[in-house]
Amino acid sequence: MFGSKTQALQRRAERVLPLGVNSNFRYWGEQITPYVQKAKGAHLWDVDGKKYIDYRMAFGPIILGHAYEAVDSKVIAEIQNGVLFAMTSELEVAVAELIVELSPAIEMARMACSGTEATMHAIRVARAYTGRDLILKFEGNYHGMHDHTLWSTYAPVEAYGNARSPIAVPGSSGIPKMMRDFIITLPFNDAEGFERVMKSYGEQIAAVITEPCQGNCAAINPQDGFLQLIRKKTEEYGCVFILDEVKTGFRIANGGAQEYYRITPDLITYAKALGNGYPVAAFGGKREIMSIIGQGVAVGGTYTNNKPGIAGAYATLNLLKTQPILKTIEKRGLRLMDGLKEIFEENDIPAVFTGYPAMFSFSLNIEKVTNQREWAKSDHALYIDLVEKAIARGIMPDHDAREPWFLSYSHSDADIDETLNVYAEIVKEVKR
Ligand SMILES: Cc1ncc(COP(=O)(O)O)c(C=O)c1O
Repeated sequence: MFGSKTQALQRRAERVLPLGVNSNFRYWGEQITPYVQKAKGAHLWDVDGKKYIDYRMAFGPIILGHAYEAVDSKVIAEIQNGVLFAMTSELEVAVAELIVELSPAIEMARMACSGTEATMHAIRVARAYTGRDLILKFEGNYHGMHDHTLWSTYAPVEAYGNARSPIAVPGSSGIPKMMRDFIITLPFNDAEGFERVMKSYGEQIAAVITEPCQGNCAAINPQDGFLQLIRKKTEEYGCVFILDEVKTGFRIANGGAQEYYRITPDLITYAKALGNGYPVAAFGGKREIMSIIGQGVAVGGTYTNNKPGIAGAYATLNLLKTQPILKTIEKRGLRLMDGLKEIFEENDIPAVFTGYPAMFSFSLNIEKVTNQREWAKSDHALYIDLVEKAIARGIMPDHDAREPWFLSYSHSDADIDETLNVYAEIVKEVKR
């Protein structure tokens, strides 16, 4: 799939980096793992110099485009005055103000460096606020690398047991067995199961955490009323509702899924599109809950106000606030989704589209996808076959069907046209 320089770099990397990468998700397999040289706008070049239209966008952060001049120039100007002080700067106060202004459900926020850190802190705050330990999460959702929620994320769904009494499956060796005592897992969109569990355990649950859509499992959308049910039941039992907007935040709307679905969670986590690729994250929510930080509740980190991240967020949020960026992405994304739908229809391949125009997925040879257990029955071999054919022709979605296609403001109508032309060809090819 990739050229000789890519293969050589993979062999070199594997001598010093486990799997030859710095995050397991970037390893696609022997001889099929991409290595990048550079990226600009919606395009990316591998180390063999081959150009692609990028639909991975670094797993979602790149909302404006790679090497986006208006963001990079702000970062470059700011870092010339120092990058880290262990003191608070005016710029980070301004970023928190922007987050509060744009997010309907956030009254106070704290900055972090990654989505993992943001969800870890939000869980700490929720436990401290409620004085409880249990966390309820949904199968197929990913909330970062910490041990608290890396359960029933990527496991083969056969390991999850019966949907009425799911087995929480650790996402890795090395997670202490006793952590299982603190987690309850459920299929996403299972309203009846959720009500039943809340009835039995609601008063022991510190937090219900969910992505608004399953951003790590084919962007499966919440069914009507599901997020609202979580809001209602968490209120009833005094649990904290954490909405993990690491992928949807500053992508599906300026006010994220809170705005899109008109819901008011207690805590929200952000990362990714917040900084167009610079290392920055945040969590925030109700003043009453956030105010317990510092009152016996520890939240901190040396790099939480790193200048590149803060300056990246400042520039990105100002652009999102003042220009119709997300609307433009939505329009182009919709055209891409509609075009792909038409191609599958014309070729009689059942395809279920999920997600939003800025972040969507499709599952093949299946009629309905409402949770990870259903998604697992879709045709992954066909999906991967198409991805590999697309990559050979310069279109790069992720190799893993769970990972949505991400669009940015830099994806042009010409990029969409080219992508549709390629998919029209390769879908016909696999039909033959
Ligand atoms: C919904 C969600 N939460 C948390 C994380 C973890 O973020 P990070 O990789 O920045 O630690 C991710 C990463 O993909 C995510 O998609």
